[in-house]
Amino acid sequence: MLVPMQKLIDSAEKGNFAVGAFSVGNMEMVMGAIKAAEELNTPIIIQIAEKRLKNSPIELMGPMMVSAAKNAKVDVAVHLDHGLTLECIQKVLDYGFTSVMLDASLLPFEENIKITKKVVALAQKYGATVESELGVVGGIEGDNLVHEIKCTDPKVAKEFCDRTGIDCLAVAIGNAHGNYPVLPELRFDILEEIHNTCTKPLVLHGGTGITDEMFKKAISLGIRKINIATASFDALTKYSKNYLENNEKVDYFSLSSQMVEGVYQNVKRHILVFNNK
Ligand code: 13P
Repeated sequence: MLVPMQKLIDSAEKGNFAVGAFSVGNMEMVMGAIKAAEELNTPIIIQIAEKRLKNSPIELMGPMMVSAAKNAKVDVAVHLDHGLTLECIQKVLDYGFTSVMLDASLLPFEENIKITKKVVALAQKYGATVESELGVVGGIEGDNLVHEIKCTDPKVAKEFCDRTGIDCLAVAIGNAHGNYPVLPELRFDILEEIHNTCTKPLVLHGGTGITDEMFKKAISLGIRKINIATASFDALTKYSKNYLENNEKVDYFSLSSQMVEGVYQNVKRHILVFNNK
């Protein structure tokens, strides 16, 4: 069933777990993610970032993601990850996305607040949830743009949430998008400070490569949504490569099943950790 992201985050808050937000880029990824969620009877978020729409057009992905959520046996929220323009945010809301993220984290504080407020007002008309980022999550995003990590300043996190009216806050605590070259040292001290001052549910980006112990620690300090992208794309690619390299006769239909399987295995593995049981 298609639900607002807020519903999932509220239940995560009550149950002290995190909801997995899994990036998708084609039909097989959507199918693999939903299959894992249904099997584990756990709600999930499926998401796509604005920069990925060059590869996976919103005109195709939007209706498919919303339809997959509506037909799922579990609650599914459909989210725009790293929205960069108001035009795109408006578009996905019209397609029925139940949540949007505005990433204005590279703008100065006051400008970030100003544009975030606009997104909150827009999303309210659709009953959609709003996530925003403060500080800078590192790593590669979209067009190979490498961002330097800039940790969220706990002193202004509460002010940011209060003044913008957002529903959840993406934090930068040493996390980065993509595969980490070495195991990251997450700044749990900063996360704890943010959690103590800011009452909003918190979001952890850059989930690929973070250890299960770190996920659990992050959950204990208020993380309620965890984003996983690279690990799913990598799993799809690995399963496909393995199939193509190890079979003399290959066909599209088997390849497609392998793509679903790779994403399903990866999503399932992460849900089991995020459920925090
Ligand atoms: P990874 O690609 O590191 O899993 O990051 C996912 C993410 O945070 C998407 O916004």
